[in-house]
Amino acid sequence: MLVTLVAGARPNFMKIAPIIRAIHKAAAAGKKISYRLVHTGQHYDRNMSGQFFEQLEIPTPHANLEVGSGTQAEQTAGILVAFEKELLQHRPDLVMVVGDVTSTMACSIAAKKLNIKVAHVEAGIRSWDLTMPEEINRMVTDSITDYFFTTTESAGNNLLQAGANPARIYWVGNTMIDTLNHNINRLQQPAIWQDKGLEAKKYLVATLHRPSNVDDPAQLIRLLTILRDKTNGLKVIFPIHPRTAKMLAGTEFKAENIHFLEPMGYLEFNYLVKNALGVITDSGGITEETTVMQIPCITLRDSTERPETVEIGTNELVGTQPEALLPALEKLLAGNWKEGSIPPLWDGHTADRIVAVLETL
Ligand code: UD1
Repeated sequence: MLVTLVAGARPNFMKIAPIIRAIHKAAAAGKKISYRLVHTGQHYDRNMSGQFFEQLEIPTPHANLEVGSGTQAEQTAGILVAFEKELLQHRPDLVMVVGDVTSTMACSIAAKKLNIKVAHVEAGIRSWDLTMPEEINRMVTDSITDYFFTTTESAGNNLLQAGANPARIYWVGNTMIDTLNHNINRLQQPAIWQDKGLEAKKYLVATLHRPSNVDDPAQLIRLLTILRDKTNGLKVIFPIHPRTAKMLAGTEFKAENIHFLEPMGYLEFNYLVKNALGVITDSGGITEETTVMQIPCITLRDSTERPETVEIGTNELVGTQPEALLPALEKLLAGNWKEGSIPPLWDGHTADRIVAVLETL
């Protein structure tokens, strides 16, 4: 079986790394499985893409479609056209997409239109918020997916409610956690640790990049002001996403305790998270990693497609109103955070389970 595996944007890279390792393992054991790795080029900077390939030991892609930045429509259209050409030249038995980025949706459409089967890893999660581009990507992708690989039971239930064939839903766990477990003992202390004299559990990590939090400069400044004024002077380490950096560059915002950094590598970022007092974010993937590392996490969103991180894990959803952040921050700073546990099958062996399913198709 030839699988074309798609990766496009930063959060895809941690999800494909263990799948590639598992395919290599199966092939070495004599199984008839091979892959072609296609990078769409949705993210292209070294610090959004290249360094993840190096740190996570992902092989150089067989093809890079180099679509680059653009509006949602431009990116989608560019990927559709380029990925169709790729599929016509190298027709696989299956296209495997991961996550919920524009590349995930565009590549599943291109494949399906050529009557190629589609597998979606991280299928079925739903925020029910259609103002998020990711939610549209999830719904469109799942509406034409043939094989659904899910992280949680509730994701499977969402798919069943939408009419998916139960025989095609495989509850396998979370490949993002495969990557975390694989790398947990090789995390790297970033330079900022020495530069700013960081000490374990005496600083916070923050990330923001959702359009709803960063595209309006007034909203961005309101949130940053709380991180400046209501964190007891704790250092806040803030690796800044290009989208957020562009918005912030147009403002006069200043804060001595907030240290804005370039986007960090995987090993350095998770070193900081593992040793932090807590994390404040609007990311989805980070809420899964903090759940497994059992680090308090405050999510600045109104909804989450990952409810288990709240119900089982260490995550708390506080919305996007700056005042709503205050009680959660107080609890965090006072050391009164809930203890979480780890969702079923987030055990580091998900990619092996996925490849075992592929062998049966
Ligand atoms: C995308 C994903 C989002 C994911 C996020 C992680 C979609 C719809 N969204 O959002 O789910 O959480 O990635 O980063 O797919 N840019 C660079 N260098 C790069 C890549 C982007 O400077 O390597 C700039 C672009 O020019 C653009 C901005 O960053 O202005 C946003 O990039 P884009 O890929 O459009 O969406 P993200 O906000 O990153």
